[in-house]
Amino acid sequence: MDWRTHYNSRLATPEEAVGHIKSGDRVIVGHACGEPGALLDAMAANAAAYRHVEIVHMVSMGTSPYCAEGMEEHFTHNSLFAGATTRKAVNEGRGDFTPAFFYKIPELLRTSLRPDVAMVQVSPPDEHGCCSLGVSVDYGKTAVQVATTVIAQVNRNMPRTLGESMVHATDLDVIVELDTPVIELPKAAPGEVEMRIGENCAGLIQDGDTLQLGIGAIPDAVLHFLGGKKDLGIHSEMFSDGVVELIEAGVVTNAKKKVHPGLCVASFLMGTRRLYDFVDDNPLVYLAGVEWVNHPLVISQNDNVVAINSCVQVDLQGQVVSSSAGLRQISGIGGQADFVRGASYSKGGRSIMAFPSLAKGGVSKIVAFADAGSAVSQTREDVDYVVTEHGVAALAGQTLRERARRLIAVAHPDVREGLQEEYERRFGSLDAILGR
Ligand code: COA
Repeated sequence: MDWRTHYNSRLATPEEAVGHIKSGDRVIVGHACGEPGALLDAMAANAAAYRHVEIVHMVSMGTSPYCAEGMEEHFTHNSLFAGATTRKAVNEGRGDFTPAFFYKIPELLRTSLRPDVAMVQVSPPDEHGCCSLGVSVDYGKTAVQVATTVIAQVNRNMPRTLGESMVHATDLDVIVELDTPVIELPKAAPGEVEMRIGENCAGLIQDGDTLQLGIGAIPDAVLHFLGGKKDLGIHSEMFSDGVVELIEAGVVTNAKKKVHPGLCVASFLMGTRRLYDFVDDNPLVYLAGVEWVNHPLVISQNDNVVAINSCVQVDLQGQVVSSSAGLRQISGIGGQADFVRGASYSKGGRSIMAFPSLAKGGVSKIVAFADAGSAVSQTREDVDYVVTEHGVAALAGQTLRERARRLIAVAHPDVREGLQEEYERRFGSLDAILGR
């Protein structure tokens, strides 16, 4: 059958589309700004028709209606990354959490997390019947390949990103044409603290480095200070608007990269329409599945990889807690470990944990001991630098005593005295012997 005949025969309304979901199904939902919000709304409106539908989702950028109180009979959320709209359900036992490296998620979808239904969003087909997964290729491509039923929102506002981002119209079982705005992540406005962190991180970046940056005010602040650099590269699980400015300014050229030289490589994008227009049909931006983009051995093929990430706590040994505070699930590890590991295998690579010295509510992120129950995401051997607004603690190759000393120096001044008491309890006698 010609792809156009297939396409036209599968057209449905959102309400008809979600009628293909059955009680007990496992549904995987397109990630981050690629989330098909209209399909999720239609599914939630049809909740009475379902019992125990498992919703597997990573970062949710919409309203996550399947997590609302009262929905627990109909939907169970299996979170791959607890966020603002899903954290409460996960921590109140109305949902659950599956720890996983981001680059392993496609493999899980082929094995223990195999979905019955995939709900994704794509650009309209080209003359060959190819639709782009647009701003979210990551696990979406595997989801389309392995799900029994693929429900796709075809959206003319979805940029047609290039690379390994295409799925074919004949892979889509149910098609909903709907031109809703693609979810945008407004550019963060870094405050004074973030700007100081950005400046401290930028001091560790050299011409020709290949960067991985996460989401939010700190990455944007880092980019702000990179205007004077040359030939930077991007191989990152995601990027946002700030990178576009550095490409247009000639700072990001990708010239020194070994994996797809000349191209920015990512597996998803989060930003404003400016970013989405920039990546539309742009052969300089290569989107691909996360199992390739985030695989540490792929990352490490580039030299001088610099991974910049954030976390919840760092203890005085340099152990990093990234996604929980005690037993409270805050987020997920995302691609952090993939890039920390990839950077450590890369010739000249470096990993940086960058964060404000105080969390919301004024608690210190640098602590003597992580909260009981917290999941350690990076071991004390993993992280090369810890950066706060108070400076840079270089940890690689440092003794326990020296790394504690350096971490205290970049902690918030109000907590240094308490941390110093713990330091003296641990190391005071050795300091006395050494005459320090
Ligand atoms: N103790 C207790 N709670 C803490 C905390 C701490 N040390 N640090 C953060 N939190 C809580 C905040 O209070 C907030 O809770 P609330 O929303 O109920 O108020 C929540 O965690 C999120 O904090 P916030 O400051 O808004 O987070 P952020 O948007 O700056 O993100 C991380 C910080 C650490 C959660 C985030 O960077 C992350 O998930 N990192 C790990 C994953 C990663 O790096 N992936 C790769 C890049 S995409």
